[in-house]
Amino acid sequence: MTNRKLKNLLVTGGSGFIGANFIKYLFNKTDFAGKIINMDNLTYAGNPENLIDIDTHYGKSRYFFEKADICDYDAAKRIFEKYDIDTCVHFAAESHVDRSIYGPKDFIETNIMGTFNLLEVARKLWKDRNDVLFHHVSTDEVFGSLGDEGYFTEETPYDPRSPYSASKASSDHLVRAAFHTYGLPITLSNCSNNYGPLQFPEKLIPLMIMNIFEGKSLPVYGDGKNIRDWLYVEDHASAIWTIINKGQTGSTYNVGGENEWTNIDLVNKICQCAAELLSKDQGEIKKLITYVKDRPGHDRRYAIDCSKIKKELGWKNLTSFEEGIKATVKWYLDNLEWVEHIRKGEYQEWMNKNYEQR
Ligand code: NAD
Ligand code: DAU
Repeated sequence: MTNRKLKNLLVTGGSGFIGANFIKYLFNKTDFAGKIINMDNLTYAGNPENLIDIDTHYGKSRYFFEKADICDYDAAKRIFEKYDIDTCVHFAAESHVDRSIYGPKDFIETNIMGTFNLLEVARKLWKDRNDVLFHHVSTDEVFGSLGDEGYFTEETPYDPRSPYSASKASSDHLVRAAFHTYGLPITLSNCSNNYGPLQFPEKLIPLMIMNIFEGKSLPVYGDGKNIRDWLYVEDHASAIWTIINKGQTGSTYNVGGENEWTNIDLVNKICQCAAELLSKDQGEIKKLITYVKDRPGHDRRYAIDCSKIKKELGWKNLTSFEEGIKATVKWYLDNLEWVEHIRKGEYQEWMNKNYEQR
């Protein structure tokens, strides 16, 4: 176990779902006293509103926003130099599997070329330094699809199936290559499905909550029996915080919720929570569930063995699913304006176009 002293922390993609929750976690739940620089080019998924409270409280002293593309070498170099960055936590990515099916190019550019670009900047500016760290945030989807039994471990061979997971797998390999070839100090995490506040409402959980609220159909792909392992986003933030402080340089850690749900059971659970909060009849809400055409190449089951991070670094998942899902449904119902603002952007247009194709 190492014990790093982190000072100036660059978060890429800090205006997205997990990045914003991670920045809030740093300010609200840790003793980190350094600077946090958020580098984000604000794609459709990036929302400055996610960090408005942090900006108001800490902006100009400890929180800095830089609107920049991770594919832009000069911009990345300028940011590393300007803030004397010693730690980079790399979240920025195109993250939605369905979008990667309909338009893979952006995934190749951002997830592969963008990661490569940041690694180039880091290895050149951090040459021969061992008081620095590049942490790469990745996904369990790189391991492919499980049958009824078994778990993904850190040793599971890569077998990505979608353009999204293939692009993330490629970025993982580039990060490890930078460690082995150039000695760049890196750590890496592969995490299961996150849920919680601030998730863009194209992903399963927020999409279902909003459709229930609006009385729209609840589209369940295929037979609804695909399985995902769900982790509350703040527990993912705490795992990353643990790894960047104590993780072994060059190591990978799997992070998961040990919390498997079939999609249909999960949608039923969301219906139940929403019915309670909206004082509506659960049966009526469940009538909105509609089985639709399956996602092409839909991975059947993901399940993470996260014993390494638990045993080696002492991390644990603190949020029960019961608690987390209720808090999440409540957050969306309490923050309808947040969703409304997003919908005024490009999201609605994309949904309309692509839902017509299904
Ligand atoms: P998100 O789509 O909500 O946010 C992505 C952020 O990256 C946005 O703020 C966007 O503006 C920014 N971004 C995209 N392209 C950029 C570019 N070229 N330059 C600068 N910024 C750019 O994604 P998320 O769900 O928060 O996921 C964050 C990371 O975590 C991703 O790397 C993803 O692969 C990984 N991950 C996500 C999950 C999950 O369940 N959401 C699980 C495991 C791993
Ligand atoms: O496993 C980690 C991954 O989890 C992350 O790497 C990705 O960035 C993140 O988007 C997520 O990918 P998924 O494809 O698992 O998440 P999504 O919310 O899109 O879908 C979850 C499951 O629900 C999946 O089996 C597909 C299904 N689904 C999804 C949508 C949007 C539906 O049945 N209906 C839907 O409308």
